[in-house]
Amino acid sequence: MILNKIHRKDILYFQSVVGDANALFNNDDLIENASDHTEDLFYLPEIVLLPSTPEEISQILSYCSKWQIPVTPRGAGTGLSGGALPVHGGVVLNMKRFNKILQLDKRNFQVTTEPGVITQVLQDHVREQGLMYPPDPASKGSCFIGGNISENSGGPRAVKYGVVKDYVLNLEVVLPDGAIIWTGANVLKNATGYNLTQLMVGSEGTLGVVTKIVLRLIPATTHDLLMLVPFKSSEEACEAVNEIMLAGYTPSALEFMERDAIEWSMKFVQQTAIPLQEDIQAHLLIEVDGNNMEQLYADMDGISKAIEKYDTGEVLFADSHEQKQMLWNLRRKVGEAVKSNSIYKEEDTVVPRAELPKLLQAVKRIGKEYGFHSVCYGHAGDGNLHVNIVKQNMSDADWDNKLPLGIRELFKEVVKLGGTISGEHGIGFVQKHYLDIVFDNVQLDIMKKIKKVFDPKGILNPGKIFVD
Ligand code: LAC
Ligand code: ZN
Repeated sequence: MILNKIHRKDILYFQSVVGDANALFNNDDLIENASDHTEDLFYLPEIVLLPSTPEEISQILSYCSKWQIPVTPRGAGTGLSGGALPVHGGVVLNMKRFNKILQLDKRNFQVTTEPGVITQVLQDHVREQGLMYPPDPASKGSCFIGGNISENSGGPRAVKYGVVKDYVLNLEVVLPDGAIIWTGANVLKNATGYNLTQLMVGSEGTLGVVTKIVLRLIPATTHDLLMLVPFKSSEEACEAVNEIMLAGYTPSALEFMERDAIEWSMKFVQQTAIPLQEDIQAHLLIEVDGNNMEQLYADMDGISKAIEKYDTGEVLFADSHEQKQMLWNLRRKVGEAVKSNSIYKEEDTVVPRAELPKLLQAVKRIGKEYGFHSVCYGHAGDGNLHVNIVKQNMSDADWDNKLPLGIRELFKEVVKLGGTISGEHGIGFVQKHYLDIVFDNVQLDIMKKIKKVFDPKGILNPGKIFVD
């Protein structure tokens, strides 16, 4: 695969398509588009384009295909696997001008939106009409819905409501050769041919550029309750997760946080909001939602009974909107808090839910063996554990050479437990070297062939998912 640098003639062409004001190549703009939220990775693009129509993207992509210029689509840059990093330079296709919610079809419980809309803005918009779009990644206040589609994001509510893929009905996509297609139809059932819609979801900007999104909505719930349960043993907290589900409850969030996670988050937001007794090792943050308050109280009661056999500290019931916000803020800020504390790597392991205690055990055992400290938290109800490996006192040599072997061992353990190496952050740039643990050559070959069908010249988001 030969990818070319950008020349003066290319810049002139891009300017003719998007206008001079939307073809940026001064240093500040390039720097702004050189990183996302993945570790401290930094790759400068050669030019940043801000298109505003599918037709403009079509012209850009067919030109770049012809001249073999790399193109990296970019949403809000909150990704955690390096999907938006222009690792081969070239063009960054910044989607921020695609910022309109186009149509709310209330009769059919559907919304059509452009990809550069902030997820929470979309959620608030449909909620005003009594509808709900549930997927709520931690970065919902700043991430774009288009990025969520690319990574098939999840978030705390996935345990009850599912992830992004469960809400995508139809997509308008510009393919690398410039063709503009719709992938499906605006219907709740579709058994018509291959499912191109779901192929695009989670494809990390490697197959096409999404320009319109049709999402399924559900009626909004009116009430919720939230409690924080401290546990004296982290493994027991993980066991309790399955006890709750086996007892017949489906909370709208069932989140796990190790002690460090909540402690560091409190420091980060500068709030000692909750008392943290010496003997507490982990917390479960448990939310139920619905339309009937009495039912919700009964659910919380039942959940408390289901876990009463475990050694827990005093349960904190959020009794006001502010307190709920405070607890959710603590939870959502864990990732940023860890990042602010140390050089780190973020893993996104997921196992069948009942295997979560074994996964946590494996993380700690392998950490001891390879000399790394980890802060674990995440969507326990989905069996999805974020393992933040922090550098702290590890030497640079160990960090660079020994740690990848430790991660490899952890991922093998995950696969042995029936799990996989990313639940919601994607493979992108940073996990591609581990894909051989999950897939054999036959599987990888099928995926590479799919990529070739869509993008024969290999211009779209090169250097992602597969090792070049
Ligand atoms: C979270 C992000 C890191 O759950 O996925 O906080
Ligand atoms: Zn998460």
